[in-house]
Amino acid sequence: SQETARISEIIDHCRQMEGPMLPILHEIQAEFGYIPEEAKQIIATALNLSRAEVHGVVTFYHDFRAKPAGRHVLKLCRAEACQSMGAEPLADRVRQILGIDWHETTADGAITLEPVFCLGLCAQAPAAMLDGDLHARLDEHCLGEILAEARA
Ligand code: FES
Repeated sequence: SQETARISEIIDHCRQMEGPMLPILHEIQAEFGYIPEEAKQIIATALNLSRAEVHGVVTFYHDFRAKPAGRHVLKLCRAEACQSMGAEPLADRVRQILGIDWHETTADGAITLEPVFCLGLCAQAPAAMLDGDLHARLDEHCLGEILAEARA
């Protein structure tokens, strides 16, 4: 398939690097938005690894997705400064409102929820990022507005 051909091209492009697995995975995700299941076997064969080894790397790094993301990606900070400012109950509330857990996408395909560990806004915790836009000093009200806008 076209997908397979593109994956092979990416592997060829990266395989001479030292430790080629992560660059390959990052390029595949940049290209497809996620790591297609079939990519694992293709990478494994190319790098002389087992499919399980590739799968292990993909699941270890939460940056890699197994499915395409929603139209918007909401990253909630779960690191210490944000936790001390109530990030956990806020995240519980968001998961409840969206009806999804971490790394999942809402049924309408609007929002994917991901954890992030420090956005550099510790002094303005709790913090989040929606599609690359930073939001600081969050509370339930402003998060609700952000979510409503993203789903509109
Ligand atoms: Fe959340 Fe730094 S700990 S922004």
